[in-house]
Amino acid sequence: MIQKHYFTTFQNHSQSLVKKKFIFVNMKIENITCIGAGYVGGPTMAVIALKCPEIKVTVVDLNKERIDLWNDEDLSKLPIYEPGLADIVKQTRGKNLFFSTEIDKSIKQSEMIFISVNTPTKTYGEGKGQASDLKFIELCARQIAKSAESDKIVVEKSTLPVRTAEVITKILKSSKKGLNFEILSNPEFLAEGTAITDLLYADRVLIGGDSTQNGQKSIKALVDIYKNWISDEKILTTNVWSSELSKLVANAFLAQRVSSINSISALCEKSGADIDEVAKAIGMDSRIGSKFLKSSVGFGGSCFQKDILNLVYISKSLGLTEVSEYWHQVIKMNDYQKNRFSSIIIKSLFNTVSDKKITLLGWSFKKDTNDTRESAAIYIADKLIENKALVSIYDPKVSEKQIYNDINYLKTRSSSDNKKHLNVHKNVYDACENSHAIAILTEWDEFTKLDWGKIFSTVVSPAKVFDGRNLLDNQKLEKIGFEVFSIGK
Ligand code: UDX
Ligand code: UDX
Repeated sequence: MIQKHYFTTFQNHSQSLVKKKFIFVNMKIENITCIGAGYVGGPTMAVIALKCPEIKVTVVDLNKERIDLWNDEDLSKLPIYEPGLADIVKQTRGKNLFFSTEIDKSIKQSEMIFISVNTPTKTYGEGKGQASDLKFIELCARQIAKSAESDKIVVEKSTLPVRTAEVITKILKSSKKGLNFEILSNPEFLAEGTAITDLLYADRVLIGGDSTQNGQKSIKALVDIYKNWISDEKILTTNVWSSELSKLVANAFLAQRVSSINSISALCEKSGADIDEVAKAIGMDSRIGSKFLKSSVGFGGSCFQKDILNLVYISKSLGLTEVSEYWHQVIKMNDYQKNRFSSIIIKSLFNTVSDKKITLLGWSFKKDTNDTRESAAIYIADKLIENKALVSIYDPKVSEKQIYNDINYLKTRSSSDNKKHLNVHKNVYDACENSHAIAILTEWDEFTKLDWGKIFSTVVSPAKVFDGRNLLDNQKLEKIGFEVFSIGK
């Protein structure tokens, strides 16, 4: 009995030594799995595959429909639109880049696993409305623990609250298979619309890991991957918590600049100053810098609001009320800006938009992407519909289905009510015909090239344009006959 026990223990021990050797001694990464074929996982893995032809990269996802689109012969059907992405997928797919729903199989075969699933703000229970919902992260960790047959390096790519690595570690260690799991934090800093350039020419790559020997070896394994195209001085290594927090803070600082300039836009409208002139004047101070000072209808996107709410929640949970309130103000200012813009439209249409056609040009949260998450357009349309307007929408990249999903998701009204008040057009001139007001909500380049004279001839007078992005040439429009409102002017 004793002997048998000794034998099994020895066998387990020696097996695990072999496994350890597999990755932590001979630290060569030949197979990567990325769980989550979304806006982050897709482009990031495509670039790794392009730059590391010797590594087999498999992107897996629960969503079969999404994976089928990634595998579609017709590259225009890729599930996300990013300039330059289709070309990279064309070069790598089927060679060393694969898209699959076989999650377990791929985990088993890989030494390194990226977690790139979505982490939405919680809509229920403890932390509702602020904390990140980590259920998908937990599911991934459980799946890795269940499928793994050898040591793994697990890389957090999704933006996560500080100390999430601890949760992942606990789940992985509970697998009781005697395997080693090293957790790294490697936040993405890619912005949609420029994801490929941001990946190819990153300002910096941040990798957080443990100070243990295995932790340091794992960091090195990931550094070696990035070194294929990023220079040494741009690869920063830190501890896991600094890396996790830096991601949240980077987004909070960027969003704070937008809220700051938007707060000043309201002041400009009252004082006669011009927000673009103010932004230019302060941006030329090299200590302030000129980026992220473009006043707008409010920031959107999957990250800014979610990450700040996370920061707000964490600070509050740690008893730092003043810190929490400070960052919460960035979100409140953004809500104020979206609200203010819809109110300006309503007021200028003689305080009623009931049964008036209002055209919204742009639905995505910024140009060059079909992503609509947290787009200001959704909230502006919702408020206008609440005021009984007939809202017409044109966006060059967002589908009708998506637009209806977005507005129905708010649950302000029934979907049949939304259908009565909202019309999606494929042709921009049809969208504008007989309109009482046209609002620019996304800065798509094509809106600057429209035949505004033609539009003027079909709209209701007085013809009004509300430029939520300060995109158009006001003088030119006014010459045609439009009354133009621009943010902060
Ligand atoms: C991003 C980032 O990863 C995150 O950092 C950021 O905070 C917001 O979301 P993104 O790539 O933009 O993720 O999300 P999304 O386009 O929704 O893609 C996530 C994918 O993960 C989806 O295709 C979903 O089907 C998949 N998924 C989710 C899984 O495969 N398994 C899960 O358990 C959950
Ligand atoms: C952001 C971060 O930039 C990126 O580093 C991170 O990895 C993910 O979150 P993204 O959300 O794709 O990227 O877009 P971003 O370009 O940052 O714009 C966010 C929002 O702010 C958009 O709605 C944009 O229109 C708005 N914005 C940005 C402004 O209103 N004014 C500006 O000057 C800049």
